[in-house]
Amino acid sequence: MTDGHDLGAGVSGRRYPVMDGSGRRCPVTGVTGTRYLVTGATGFVGRRLTSMILARGGTVTALARPSPRARALRELGVQVVPGDLATGRGVEEAVRGADRVIHLAATLRARTAAGFRAVNRDGVERLVRALAAQRRPARLVLCSSLAAGPAISLYGASKRAGEQVAREHAGRVPAVILRPGIVYGPGEEALLPALLPMVRLGVVVQAGCGPRRFGMVYVDDLCTALLAAAERGPVLRPAPSPVSCLGLYPISDGNAYDMADICRALARAAGCRTPLVLPLPMPAVHAMAALAELVTRGAVPALNRDKAREMGRADWTCTPDDAVRELGFAPATTLTRGFEAALAALRTAP
Ligand SMILES: NC(=O)c1ccc[n+]([C@@H]2O[C@H](COP(=O)([O-])OP(=O)(O)OC[C@H]3O[C@@H](n4cnc5c(N)ncnc54)[C@H](OP(=O)(O)O)[C@@H]3O)[C@@H](O)[C@H]2O)c1
Repeated sequence: MTDGHDLGAGVSGRRYPVMDGSGRRCPVTGVTGTRYLVTGATGFVGRRLTSMILARGGTVTALARPSPRARALRELGVQVVPGDLATGRGVEEAVRGADRVIHLAATLRARTAAGFRAVNRDGVERLVRALAAQRRPARLVLCSSLAAGPAISLYGASKRAGEQVAREHAGRVPAVILRPGIVYGPGEEALLPALLPMVRLGVVVQAGCGPRRFGMVYVDDLCTALLAAAERGPVLRPAPSPVSCLGLYPISDGNAYDMADICRALARAAGCRTPLVLPLPMPAVHAMAALAELVTRGAVPALNRDKAREMGRADWTCTPDDAVRELGFAPATTLTRGFEAALAALRTAP
Protein backbone atom coordinates (compact mmCIF):
# COMPACT_ATOMS: atom_id res chain seq x y z
CA MET A 1 0.00 0.00 0.00
CA THR A 2 1.22 3.45 -0.85
CA ASP A 3 1.21 6.37 1.45
CA GLY A 4 0.11 9.97 1.62
CA HIS A 5 -2.36 11.41 -0.82
CA ASP A 6 -3.29 8.27 -2.66
CA LEU A 7 -3.85 5.40 -0.31
CA GLY A 8 -4.19 1.87 -1.50
CA ALA A 9 -5.13 -0.16 -4.51
CA GLY A 10 -8.71 0.05 -5.73
CA VAL A 11 -10.81 -2.99 -4.91
CA SER A 12 -11.84 -3.38 -8.53
CA GLY A 13 -8.28 -3.05 -9.75
CA ARG A 14 -8.95 0.56 -10.65
CA ARG A 15 -7.16 3.13 -8.49
CA TYR A 16 -9.14 5.81 -6.72
CA PRO A 17 -7.08 8.95 -6.34
CA VAL A 18 -8.41 9.94 -2.95
CA MET A 19 -7.70 13.64 -2.54
CA ASP A 20 -6.78 15.55 0.55
CA GLY A 21 -9.99 17.22 1.62
CA SER A 22 -9.33 20.14 -0.67
CA GLY A 23 -9.94 17.87 -3.65
CA ARG A 24 -13.11 17.28 -5.62
CA ARG A 25 -16.06 15.79 -3.81
CA CYS A 26 -19.36 14.58 -5.08
CA PRO A 27 -20.99 17.61 -6.66
CA VAL A 28 -23.72 18.56 -4.20
CA THR A 29 -26.51 20.22 -6.12
CA GLY A 30 -30.14 20.87 -5.42
CA VAL A 31 -29.77 21.46 -1.67
CA THR A 32 -30.66 25.16 -1.53
CA GLY A 33 -34.28 25.54 -0.49
CA THR A 34 -34.88 21.78 -0.39
CA ARG A 35 -36.75 20.46 2.66
CA TYR A 36 -35.07 17.34 3.99
CA LEU A 37 -36.43 14.96 6.56
CA VAL A 38 -33.44 13.35 8.27
CA THR A 39 -33.92 10.45 10.67
CA GLY A 40 -31.00 9.65 12.94
CA ALA A 41 -29.97 13.33 12.84
CA THR A 42 -28.70 13.08 16.43
CA GLY A 43 -26.26 10.31 15.48
CA PHE A 44 -22.70 10.38 14.17
CA VAL A 45 -23.54 10.57 10.45
CA GLY A 46 -26.75 12.51 11.02
CA ARG A 47 -25.09 15.40 12.82
CA ARG A 48 -22.58 15.88 9.98
CA LEU A 49 -25.26 15.50 7.31
CA THR A 50 -27.53 18.01 9.02
CA SER A 51 -24.73 20.58 9.28
CA MET A 52 -23.89 20.04 5.61
CA ILE A 53 -27.48 20.55 4.49
CA LEU A 54 -27.91 23.70 6.59
CA ALA A 55 -24.59 25.10 5.38
CA ARG A 56 -25.77 24.64 1.80
CA GLY A 57 -29.08 26.42 2.28
CA GLY A 58 -31.44 23.49 2.77
CA THR A 59 -33.83 23.03 5.67
CA VAL A 60 -33.92 20.00 7.95
CA THR A 61 -36.74 18.37 9.83
CA ALA A 62 -35.48 15.71 12.19
CA LEU A 63 -37.55 12.88 13.59
CA ALA A 64 -35.81 12.39 16.92
CA ARG A 65 -36.25 10.92 20.36
CA PRO A 66 -36.03 13.51 23.12
CA SER A 67 -32.39 13.99 24.20
CA PRO A 68 -29.78 16.72 24.70
CA ARG A 69 -28.63 16.08 21.14
CA ALA A 70 -32.16 16.65 19.84
CA ARG A 71 -32.25 19.94 21.76
CA ALA A 72 -28.90 20.90 20.22
CA LEU A 73 -30.39 20.33 16.75
CA ARG A 74 -33.15 22.83 17.55
CA GLU A 75 -30.53 25.42 18.39
CA LEU A 76 -29.07 24.94 14.89
CA GLY A 77 -32.44 25.79 13.36
CA VAL A 78 -33.62 22.23 12.75
CA GLN A 79 -37.32 21.54 13.15
CA VAL A 80 -37.41 18.59 15.52
CA VAL A 81 -40.44 16.33 15.44
CA PRO A 82 -40.39 14.22 18.59
CA GLY A 83 -40.83 10.61 17.60
CA ASP A 84 -39.68 7.05 17.71
CA LEU A 85 -39.30 4.67 14.78
CA ALA A 86 -39.77 1.70 17.07
CA THR A 87 -43.33 2.78 17.81
CA GLY A 88 -44.17 4.96 14.82
CA ARG A 89 -44.79 8.03 16.98
CA GLY A 90 -44.22 11.24 15.02
CA VAL A 91 -43.50 9.54 11.69
CA GLU A 92 -46.61 10.78 9.83
CA GLU A 93 -46.05 14.33 11.04
CA ALA A 94 -42.36 14.23 10.12
CA VAL A 95 -42.84 13.17 6.48
CA ARG A 96 -45.37 15.91 5.76
CA GLY A 97 -43.94 18.52 3.39
CA ALA A 98 -40.56 16.82 2.93
CA ASP A 99 -38.98 17.03 -0.52
CA ARG A 100 -36.35 14.39 0.30
CA VAL A 101 -36.02 11.85 3.09
CA ILE A 102 -32.66 10.56 4.26
CA HIS A 103 -33.14 7.67 6.63
CA LEU A 104 -30.17 7.11 8.90
CA ALA A 105 -31.79 6.05 12.16
CA ALA A 106 -30.79 2.56 13.14
CA THR A 107 -30.01 0.24 16.01
CA LEU A 108 -26.32 -0.58 15.72
CA ARG A 109 -26.08 -2.69 18.87
CA ALA A 110 -28.66 -5.06 20.33
CA ARG A 111 -28.67 -8.39 22.12
CA THR A 112 -31.44 -10.01 20.07
CA ALA A 113 -32.74 -10.19 16.51
CA ALA A 114 -35.95 -8.52 17.70
CA GLY A 115 -33.91 -5.69 19.18
CA PHE A 116 -32.41 -4.93 15.77
CA ARG A 117 -35.57 -5.49 13.72
CA ALA A 118 -37.74 -3.10 15.72
CA VAL A 119 -35.93 -0.14 14.11
CA ASN A 120 -33.88 -1.52 11.23
CA ARG A 121 -36.76 -3.32 9.56
CA ASP A 122 -40.02 -2.30 11.20
CA GLY A 123 -38.89 1.35 11.47
CA VAL A 124 -38.26 1.41 7.71
CA GLU A 125 -41.72 -0.03 7.15
CA ARG A 126 -43.35 2.67 9.30
CA LEU A 127 -41.48 5.37 7.44
CA VAL A 128 -42.18 3.95 3.99
CA ARG A 129 -45.89 3.48 4.73
CA ALA A 130 -46.16 7.07 5.93
CA LEU A 131 -44.46 8.22 2.72
CA ALA A 132 -46.68 6.03 0.57
CA ALA A 133 -49.73 7.73 2.09
CA GLN A 134 -48.56 11.14 0.79
CA ARG A 135 -50.02 12.50 -2.45
CA ARG A 136 -46.55 12.65 -4.02
CA PRO A 137 -44.18 10.54 -1.91
CA ALA A 138 -40.75 12.13 -1.45
CA ARG A 139 -37.64 10.37 -2.72
CA LEU A 140 -36.18 8.22 0.03
CA VAL A 141 -32.49 7.50 0.58
CA LEU A 142 -32.03 4.55 2.87
CA CYS A 143 -28.66 4.26 4.57
CA SER A 144 -28.05 0.56 4.83
CA SER A 145 -24.67 -1.12 5.37
CA LEU A 146 -22.18 -3.44 3.68
CA ALA A 147 -23.23 -5.81 6.48
CA ALA A 148 -26.58 -6.24 4.68
CA GLY A 149 -24.80 -8.04 1.82
CA PRO A 150 -23.70 -11.30 3.43
CA ALA A 151 -26.07 -10.68 6.38
CA ILE A 152 -24.04 -12.92 8.66
CA SER A 153 -24.88 -10.88 11.75
CA LEU A 154 -28.25 -10.09 13.30
CA TYR A 155 -27.52 -6.44 12.53
CA GLY A 156 -26.75 -7.22 8.87
CA ALA A 157 -29.87 -9.38 8.54
CA SER A 158 -32.02 -6.60 9.99
CA LYS A 159 -30.53 -4.00 7.63
CA ARG A 160 -31.19 -6.33 4.72
CA ALA A 161 -34.77 -6.79 5.87
CA GLY A 162 -35.11 -2.99 5.90
CA GLU A 163 -33.84 -2.89 2.31
CA GLN A 164 -36.42 -5.50 1.36
CA VAL A 165 -39.23 -3.35 2.78
CA ALA A 166 -38.05 -0.43 0.63
CA ARG A 167 -38.10 -2.71 -2.42
CA GLU A 168 -41.60 -3.90 -1.64
CA HIS A 169 -42.89 -0.31 -1.69
CA ALA A 170 -40.70 0.93 -4.54
CA GLY A 171 -43.68 1.06 -6.92
CA ARG A 172 -45.09 3.90 -4.83
CA VAL A 173 -42.10 5.39 -2.99
CA PRO A 174 -39.01 6.16 -5.11
CA ALA A 175 -36.09 4.87 -3.09
CA VAL A 176 -32.31 4.50 -3.27
CA ILE A 177 -30.16 2.39 -0.97
CA LEU A 178 -26.57 3.18 0.04
CA ARG A 179 -24.46 0.48 1.66
CA PRO A 180 -21.44 2.12 3.30
CA GLY A 181 -18.48 0.25 4.69
CA ILE A 182 -16.90 1.49 7.92
CA VAL A 183 -17.69 5.18 8.38
CA TYR A 184 -15.14 7.22 10.30
CA GLY A 185 -14.49 10.84 11.14
CA PRO A 186 -15.30 13.52 13.71
CA GLY A 187 -17.86 12.42 16.28
CA GLU A 188 -17.47 8.70 15.62
CA GLU A 189 -17.77 6.76 18.87
CA ALA A 190 -16.86 3.12 18.18
CA LEU A 191 -13.77 2.62 16.00
CA LEU A 192 -11.60 5.48 17.22
CA PRO A 193 -12.18 4.99 20.96
CA ALA A 194 -11.30 1.30 20.52
CA LEU A 195 -8.25 1.75 18.30
CA LEU A 196 -6.61 4.91 19.57
CA PRO A 197 -5.50 3.65 23.01
CA MET A 198 -3.98 0.54 21.40
CA VAL A 199 -2.24 2.58 18.71
CA ARG A 200 -0.78 4.85 21.42
CA LEU A 201 0.32 1.76 23.33
CA GLY A 202 2.10 0.43 20.23
CA VAL A 203 0.17 -2.85 20.02
CA VAL A 204 -3.16 -3.39 18.25
CA VAL A 205 -5.11 -6.62 18.58
CA GLN A 206 -6.80 -7.75 15.37
CA ALA A 207 -9.77 -10.10 15.47
CA GLY A 208 -8.92 -13.26 13.54
CA CYS A 209 -5.66 -14.71 12.30
CA GLY A 210 -6.16 -14.62 8.55
CA PRO A 211 -6.08 -11.57 6.32
CA ARG A 212 -8.78 -8.96 6.88
CA ARG A 213 -9.73 -6.25 4.39
CA PHE A 214 -12.05 -3.33 5.04
CA GLY A 215 -13.82 -0.73 2.93
CA MET A 216 -13.89 2.66 4.63
CA VAL A 217 -15.42 6.03 3.93
CA TYR A 218 -14.94 9.41 5.57
CA VAL A 219 -18.18 10.68 7.04
CA ASP A 220 -18.38 13.84 4.90
CA ASP A 221 -17.77 11.81 1.76
CA LEU A 222 -20.66 9.55 2.73
CA CYS A 223 -22.83 12.63 3.34
CA THR A 224 -22.13 13.95 -0.15
CA ALA A 225 -23.07 10.54 -1.55
CA LEU A 226 -26.32 10.57 0.45
CA LEU A 227 -27.17 14.03 -0.87
CA ALA A 228 -26.31 13.05 -4.42
CA ALA A 229 -28.50 9.95 -4.12
CA ALA A 230 -31.33 12.18 -2.94
CA GLU A 231 -31.10 14.08 -6.22
CA ARG A 232 -30.13 11.75 -9.01
CA GLY A 233 -29.56 8.24 -10.21
CA PRO A 234 -31.96 5.36 -10.81
CA VAL A 235 -34.31 4.22 -8.07
CA LEU A 236 -35.05 0.69 -6.88
CA ARG A 237 -37.09 -1.57 -9.09
CA PRO A 238 -40.39 -2.45 -7.43
CA ALA A 239 -40.67 -6.01 -6.12
CA PRO A 240 -41.58 -8.60 -7.38
CA SER A 241 -39.43 -7.72 -10.41
CA PRO A 242 -36.20 -9.71 -10.22
CA VAL A 243 -33.82 -8.29 -7.60
CA SER A 244 -31.61 -5.88 -9.50
CA CYS A 245 -28.72 -3.66 -8.46
CA LEU A 246 -30.44 -0.54 -9.79
CA GLY A 247 -30.62 2.07 -7.05
CA LEU A 248 -28.31 0.09 -4.74
CA TYR A 249 -24.91 1.65 -4.08
CA PRO A 250 -22.05 0.14 -2.07
CA ILE A 251 -20.00 3.05 -0.72
CA SER A 252 -16.34 3.21 0.29
CA ASP A 253 -13.37 5.26 -0.81
CA GLY A 254 -12.66 2.40 -3.21
CA ASN A 255 -9.65 1.01 -1.37
CA ALA A 256 -9.09 -2.22 0.49
CA TYR A 257 -7.41 -1.54 3.83
CA ASP A 258 -5.97 -4.14 6.13
CA MET A 259 -5.54 -3.54 9.84
CA ALA A 260 -1.91 -2.48 9.37
CA ASP A 261 -2.98 0.23 6.87
CA ILE A 262 -5.63 1.57 9.22
CA CYS A 263 -3.26 1.58 12.20
CA ARG A 264 -0.47 3.21 10.21
CA ALA A 265 -2.77 6.04 9.12
CA LEU A 266 -4.12 6.54 12.63
CA ALA A 267 -0.63 6.47 14.12
CA ARG A 268 0.51 9.07 11.62
CA ALA A 269 -2.48 11.28 12.41
CA ALA A 270 -1.86 10.87 16.14
CA GLY A 271 1.86 11.48 15.81
CA CYS A 272 2.96 8.13 17.22
CA ARG A 273 4.95 5.27 15.82
CA THR A 274 3.29 2.55 13.74
CA PRO A 275 1.98 -0.12 16.12
CA LEU A 276 2.45 -3.84 15.96
CA VAL A 277 -0.69 -5.72 14.85
CA LEU A 278 -1.26 -8.94 16.80
CA PRO A 279 -3.90 -11.37 15.50
CA LEU A 280 -6.25 -12.95 18.05
CA PRO A 281 -7.84 -16.30 17.07
CA MET A 282 -11.58 -16.04 16.48
CA PRO A 283 -12.58 -18.48 19.27
CA ALA A 284 -10.89 -16.12 21.73
CA VAL A 285 -12.71 -13.14 20.15
CA HIS A 286 -16.08 -14.91 20.51
CA ALA A 287 -15.30 -15.79 24.13
CA MET A 288 -14.30 -12.22 24.95
CA ALA A 289 -17.44 -10.88 23.25
CA ALA A 290 -19.67 -13.22 25.26
CA LEU A 291 -17.87 -12.26 28.46
CA ALA A 292 -18.17 -8.54 27.68
CA GLU A 293 -21.93 -8.93 27.20
CA LEU A 294 -22.19 -10.90 30.43
CA VAL A 295 -20.46 -8.31 32.57
CA THR A 296 -22.05 -5.28 30.91
CA ARG A 297 -25.48 -4.45 32.24
CA GLY A 298 -27.89 -2.41 30.13
CA ALA A 299 -25.94 -0.97 27.19
CA VAL A 300 -24.52 -3.46 24.70
CA PRO A 301 -20.68 -3.37 24.70
CA ALA A 302 -18.82 -2.41 21.51
CA LEU A 303 -17.32 -5.90 21.40
CA ASN A 304 -20.39 -8.15 21.45
CA ARG A 305 -21.38 -11.54 20.04
CA ASP A 306 -23.03 -10.05 16.97
CA LYS A 307 -20.02 -7.85 16.17
CA ALA A 308 -17.80 -10.93 16.61
CA ARG A 309 -19.81 -12.69 13.90
CA GLU A 310 -18.88 -9.90 11.49
CA MET A 311 -15.26 -9.93 12.63
CA GLY A 312 -14.97 -13.53 11.47
CA ARG A 313 -15.37 -12.47 7.86
CA ALA A 314 -12.18 -11.77 5.91
CA ASP A 315 -13.45 -9.33 3.30
CA TRP A 316 -15.55 -6.25 4.00
CA THR A 317 -14.61 -4.29 0.91
CA CYS A 318 -16.68 -3.05 -1.98
CA THR A 319 -16.27 -1.14 -5.17
CA PRO A 320 -18.15 2.16 -5.35
CA ASP A 321 -18.00 2.18 -9.17
CA ASP A 322 -21.78 2.49 -9.60
CA ALA A 323 -21.92 5.48 -7.24
CA VAL A 324 -18.97 7.06 -9.04
CA ARG A 325 -20.64 6.63 -12.41
CA GLU A 326 -24.29 7.31 -11.57
CA LEU A 327 -24.11 9.72 -8.62
CA GLY A 328 -20.85 11.47 -9.40
CA PHE A 329 -19.45 10.14 -6.09
CA ALA A 330 -15.85 11.23 -5.62
CA PRO A 331 -14.28 10.38 -2.25
CA ALA A 332 -12.17 13.33 -1.19
CA THR A 333 -10.51 12.34 2.07
CA THR A 334 -7.56 10.06 2.77
CA LEU A 335 -7.48 7.90 5.86
CA THR A 336 -4.76 10.00 7.47
CA ARG A 337 -6.57 13.30 6.83
CA GLY A 338 -9.84 11.77 8.01
CA PHE A 339 -8.27 10.51 11.22
CA GLU A 340 -6.60 13.90 11.76
CA ALA A 341 -10.01 15.56 11.58
CA ALA A 342 -11.46 12.97 13.96
CA LEU A 343 -8.63 13.50 16.46
CA ALA A 344 -8.96 17.28 16.25
CA ALA A 345 -12.66 16.95 17.06
CA LEU A 346 -11.81 14.72 20.03
CA ARG A 347 -9.46 17.37 21.40
CA THR A 348 -12.12 20.09 21.20
CA ALA A 349 -15.03 17.92 22.38
CA PRO A 350 -16.77 19.28 25.51
N1 LIG B 1 -21.07 4.13 11.59
C1 LIG B 1 -20.73 3.23 10.68
O1 LIG B 1 -19.57 2.79 10.59
C2 LIG B 1 -21.76 2.73 9.70
C3 LIG B 1 -21.37 1.83 8.71
C4 LIG B 1 -22.31 1.37 7.78
C5 LIG B 1 -23.62 1.82 7.86
N2 LIG B 1 -23.99 2.67 8.85
C6 LIG B 1 -25.40 3.12 8.89
O2 LIG B 1 -25.38 4.54 8.90
C7 LIG B 1 -26.51 5.02 9.62
C8 LIG B 1 -26.06 6.04 10.65
O3 LIG B 1 -25.17 5.39 11.55
P1 LIG B 1 -24.45 6.18 12.74
O4 LIG B 1 -23.07 5.64 12.84
O5 LIG B 1 -24.67 7.62 12.60
O6 LIG B 1 -25.28 5.62 14.00
P2 LIG B 1 -25.49 6.27 15.42
O7 LIG B 1 -24.50 7.31 15.73
O8 LIG B 1 -25.67 5.13 16.39
O9 LIG B 1 -26.90 7.00 15.27
C9 LIG B 1 -28.08 6.26 15.21
C10 LIG B 1 -29.22 7.24 15.09
O10 LIG B 1 -30.45 6.53 15.03
C11 LIG B 1 -31.34 7.08 15.97
N3 LIG B 1 -32.30 6.10 16.43
C12 LIG B 1 -32.04 4.88 16.94
N4 LIG B 1 -33.19 4.28 17.30
C13 LIG B 1 -34.19 5.15 17.00
C14 LIG B 1 -35.59 5.11 17.16
N5 LIG B 1 -36.22 4.06 17.71
N6 LIG B 1 -36.32 6.17 16.74
C15 LIG B 1 -35.70 7.26 16.19
N7 LIG B 1 -34.38 7.35 16.04
C16 LIG B 1 -33.63 6.31 16.45
C17 LIG B 1 -30.46 7.55 17.10
O11 LIG B 1 -31.15 8.46 17.90
P3 LIG B 1 -30.83 8.67 19.48
O12 LIG B 1 -29.85 9.84 19.51
O13 LIG B 1 -32.15 8.98 20.08
O14 LIG B 1 -30.22 7.39 19.98
C18 LIG B 1 -29.34 8.19 16.31
O15 LIG B 1 -29.70 9.46 15.87
C19 LIG B 1 -27.19 3.80 10.20
O16 LIG B 1 -28.28 3.46 9.39
C20 LIG B 1 -26.15 2.72 10.14
O17 LIG B 1 -26.73 1.44 10.02
C21 LIG B 1 -23.10 3.15 9.78
